[in-house]
Amino acid sequence: MRLTFNGGPREHDPGPDDTAADVIRTAFGATGTKVSCGAGVCGACTILVDGEPKVSCLLPAAHLDGTEVTTVEGVGGDHPVQRAFVECDALQCGFCTPGFVTEAVVFHDRWRKDREGTPSREEVADALTGHLCRCGAYENILTAVQKACAGEFDDREPVPARVEAPAKVTGTAEYTVDVTLPGMLHGVIVRSRLPHARVTVTFPEMSGQSLRSDPAEETPHEGFVRLLDGDVVRYAGQPIAAVAAETPAQARELAESVTVSYEPLPSVVDPEEARRDDAPAIFPDAAAQKNAPSSAEGAGFPGRWRGNVRSGYASAWRGRTARRRLDAAEERNAPGYFAATFTTAGQSHTALEPHASVADWRADGLTLYTSTQALPHLKAAAAKRWNPPKVDIVAHHVGGGFGSKLGLGADAVAAVELSRKLGRPVRVAMSRAEELTDTGYRPGTRSELRMLGTPTGGLAAISLDVSGHGGVSTGSMVATLGLLMYGRGPRHFRDRDVVGNAPPASPFRGPGGPPFAWAVEQGVDEIAHRLGADPLRLRRTWDGNRRRRALYEIAAELPLWRDRPATPQTGRYRRGVGAAAANWIYTADLDTKVELTVREGRIVARTATQDIGTGVRTVIRNAVREVFPDAAIDVEVGHSHAPHGPVAGGSRSTASVGPAARDAAGKLAARLDGKPVGEAEGVTVLGERPKDRRGSAVPVSMDHLRIGRGLAGAVHITEVEVDTLLGHTRVTRVWGGVAVGAIYNRAAARNQCEGGIVQGIGYALYEERVTDPRTGVVLSANLEDYRLPGVKDTPEMTIHFHEDGWDHVPGGGIGLGEVCTVSVAASVGNAIFNATGFRALDLPIRPDRLLEGMSR
Ligand code: FES
Repeated sequence: MRLTFNGGPREHDPGPDDTAADVIRTAFGATGTKVSCGAGVCGACTILVDGEPKVSCLLPAAHLDGTEVTTVEGVGGDHPVQRAFVECDALQCGFCTPGFVTEAVVFHDRWRKDREGTPSREEVADALTGHLCRCGAYENILTAVQKACAGEFDDREPVPARVEAPAKVTGTAEYTVDVTLPGMLHGVIVRSRLPHARVTVTFPEMSGQSLRSDPAEETPHEGFVRLLDGDVVRYAGQPIAAVAAETPAQARELAESVTVSYEPLPSVVDPEEARRDDAPAIFPDAAAQKNAPSSAEGAGFPGRWRGNVRSGYASAWRGRTARRRLDAAEERNAPGYFAATFTTAGQSHTALEPHASVADWRADGLTLYTSTQALPHLKAAAAKRWNPPKVDIVAHHVGGGFGSKLGLGADAVAAVELSRKLGRPVRVAMSRAEELTDTGYRPGTRSELRMLGTPTGGLAAISLDVSGHGGVSTGSMVATLGLLMYGRGPRHFRDRDVVGNAPPASPFRGPGGPPFAWAVEQGVDEIAHRLGADPLRLRRTWDGNRRRRALYEIAAELPLWRDRPATPQTGRYRRGVGAAAANWIYTADLDTKVELTVREGRIVARTATQDIGTGVRTVIRNAVREVFPDAAIDVEVGHSHAPHGPVAGGSRSTASVGPAARDAAGKLAARLDGKPVGEAEGVTVLGERPKDRRGSAVPVSMDHLRIGRGLAGAVHITEVEVDTLLGHTRVTRVWGGVAVGAIYNRAAARNQCEGGIVQGIGYALYEERVTDPRTGVVLSANLEDYRLPGVKDTPEMTIHFHEDGWDHVPGGGIGLGEVCTVSVAASVGNAIFNATGFRALDLPIRPDRLLEGMSR
């Protein structure tokens, strides 16, 4: 076929099954066009064909014949939309950005031709509705497109809100899925079809198909490796083996030729059935139980097994008193007593860049390009597992993680094993179905809550008994978080896991927090309602956290809160306003180092961390710029050969790298002693993360992680509109108050908080991981069936930062990635109650559930 591609002539002979995206990314090498869902739902692969936006992942390549194709690279780098995205911080991880930019360029150009002024939010949202941003950067995307259409970026250079924004809006930012190495093979994982079975794997004869790289070797190297430890699979979708071939299509074909013989074993998927005494045991002995995967972030608590139920952490503070008070309150039907069982569905992380790895095993060591949020962990894990002469982990840009990319995943293991065997680089990238099946998810939960509150005396007693449903994994920690909330009244908390033959869960942003808040924050709201108390005032009375108390006071004065309607209303459309609060632990990596070197007149900052969309490069750059305001500063992250840096998880990045970068900048200034940077070529200093004042780091250390003194706080005030005829809920306005101390990068911090709200809305209303209760097959393994919040679900958001109270922390502030999302779903539930009088107990609040609940 012949076409015009980004302004120049191209010829290519596509295969019959090639999509436009395949050809553009592989044959034309234009990797700015991203493939994420592979089903035309997310819009990341949008290109322009004869000026019209098209999703290239579904478009047969042959249809490009005779057309004029423009990708994000062809837009250039100077379009007003790109400038606006750069300055308005209309991105986080950036994986969705090329698709948004390409679509928005068409909208902008047509608007400027036919219309005048600024398009409304709704007009822009309508134009971009076919695009998904899992980071939830919609608010800034809408603003950027509006400003570009209004002509604000016609002739001025943007001031980038984050260091890497220009690379992300032009498609030049390289993600792992974009890495291509000479001689690279493509790997595919062979997975179990059954939920529980003993398996035998037979690889086909490979005569004449050896993939060995060294012709001098005598043993043919065939493109198969086994991944399964032992011979038992415990869930449908579990990796068994991996194959590699010259092209992805050949690898898929080869995978089909691997014979897996199954001897089925009794299975159980549904947690209610799994907890029965006569249910088949998923982990029949202590050795198997010990190897159960964990969904906990860091080390989980030890537990005791009984059948498929594993008792995890239990804690009580005057537990018997708590139980006695709750029993008595129930008996006498006390007004401040509330008991209910809440459930939550599994929530899939759904990072738009799938899990992907490119392994290059050579005699002198391993280089592993991988989409990870835990570069330093992976380096240690790879060294331990394979013991190569050296290990380099590379992750220049990472298209989202949210907790799902913390470990050595099946993609990395398969790529390394294949590369080690074959002596050639191997890429393994998950399909969207694999991503939604077997890369983890927030466990589903069932929480039995009992609470007794008084209007002035505080929380008199609480008990929370939670079962986590994370498939074959354990480590759910929900009730445990009750130790951190609402003072020191008598309390009893217990977490347990009920395992089943379903894929394992993994940590997800604020692990345990959203389901905890879903139960407890609705409990507080219900007690306030029963006592006739103001829910915010009641929380302020009960809550000992002074930072959050400051937020209650501000929230109480908001017109959004003051003017909330009475419960319940009448009529078809009802407005409601709800509040919920959250806290989160403060963590930091005290071993973090930031190195500064003067190179060619510029200051180059290096640390072995990665940017998953949180803007860590900009935190470092800003910290150095405070000391060297006029210097040119480059930031290099995403490579493990730099000095130790933090994992992007547990809200620890900013609190780790910010102070270390300031320390480095101070040391460099001391070394220069007034000399200009341009005259200090080669000077290198190493900054360290100073310890907290008052020696306040709690002596808990897991893989460099320290828990610090103090709790981050958040309060969300959420307004909804409920259509009581159709059962639809729309979140219209959210106020998010966040108390984490000093903010290092205001634009990125606000963006994070807005994204946390969007994800919380998804958790509240749409996101539901569905597993077949008989086979354990994940039925919501595509983005049609797993519904993410889109641009039209974005409410008006106001973010308030309370910046006091963290003076003991170097830099005066801590991370906010978890706390900003924890209480959102609960605030939606409370708003729905305010609107309708219906107390939703089950997440997500689907229309059928709402209608059924309201009819009771
Ligand atoms: Fe949109 Fe990450 S910035 S998916």
